[in-house]
Amino acid sequence: MIKKCLFPAAGYGTRFLPATKAMPKEMLPVVNKPLIQYGVEEALDAGLTEISIVTGRGKRALEDHFDISYELENQIKGTDKEKYLVGIRKLLDECSFSYTRQTEMKGLGHAILTGRPLIGDEPFAVVLADDLCVNLDGDGVLTQMVKLYKQFRCSIIAIQEVDPQETSKYGVIAGEMIRDDIYRVHSMVEKPKPEDAPSNLAIIGRYILTPDIFDLIEQTEPGKGGEIQITDALMKQAQNGCVMAYKFKGKRFDCGGAEGYIEATNFCFENFYKTGKAY
Ligand code: UTP
Repeated sequence: MIKKCLFPAAGYGTRFLPATKAMPKEMLPVVNKPLIQYGVEEALDAGLTEISIVTGRGKRALEDHFDISYELENQIKGTDKEKYLVGIRKLLDECSFSYTRQTEMKGLGHAILTGRPLIGDEPFAVVLADDLCVNLDGDGVLTQMVKLYKQFRCSIIAIQEVDPQETSKYGVIAGEMIRDDIYRVHSMVEKPKPEDAPSNLAIIGRYILTPDIFDLIEQTEPGKGGEIQITDALMKQAQNGCVMAYKFKGKRFDCGGAEGYIEATNFCFENFYKTGKAY
């Protein structure tokens, strides 16, 4: 079954400057936890214990976060502050972490291809940590997607209905509805203007990909914005085989920009921090 989860985390995070000038966007805290930790927790909940992170220059804090800090732990040993590190210790105990660096930021598709040596020839999940996903009423989003993968055995992409005026921020799909929350994808367009969008079903930062995607990315020319787009490779996969789009249960916050980040902060403060579930 799926064991590996890839976190492309090499992007510049320009929408969050100046905060992201010297600090990775994925380390921005939502209340008391960095975005990437929420993502790894979601992966572990789904049974994905082999965590691979694509980093870049200035991203060393990510590796330090998923490591033991002996000095710090010694300092708080025996105090009630030990509880703050219980969550991260669980991740360190139950997951393995491996890293590779993307030396040129040529887009999300290219970042995923950079992770190929860590993934090999097996299906894997992809999490964009700046999309924070939570489901208070049941399975996390990746858990829902892993269950679907078991049924369909092909790439699964998470989608969400968005305001039709907002399509130019997303990859947008067209497809045939096969259940009220599942579509067989026919085509995809990266960041279409509202008048060109085939639907208002937008791709968000959770994917399960079959490993043939790597060869397809290799054959993909730079697309919108001069970047190698994962949507272009997925489009080929959809045409040659099968890609399913899944309207997940839960909420998603776009923490790559200030508005979504503040919404996520308020949500997590109310639902996790105040209720003592934040560590
Ligand atoms: P974004 O489109 O959010 O780009 O990338 P970004 O650079 O992180 O942020 P902005 O738009 O400049 O503010 C989506 C995901 O893909 C990763 C990013 O780290 C993010 O998780 N990515 C993107 C890479 O790892 N490498 C790239 O070359 C591009």
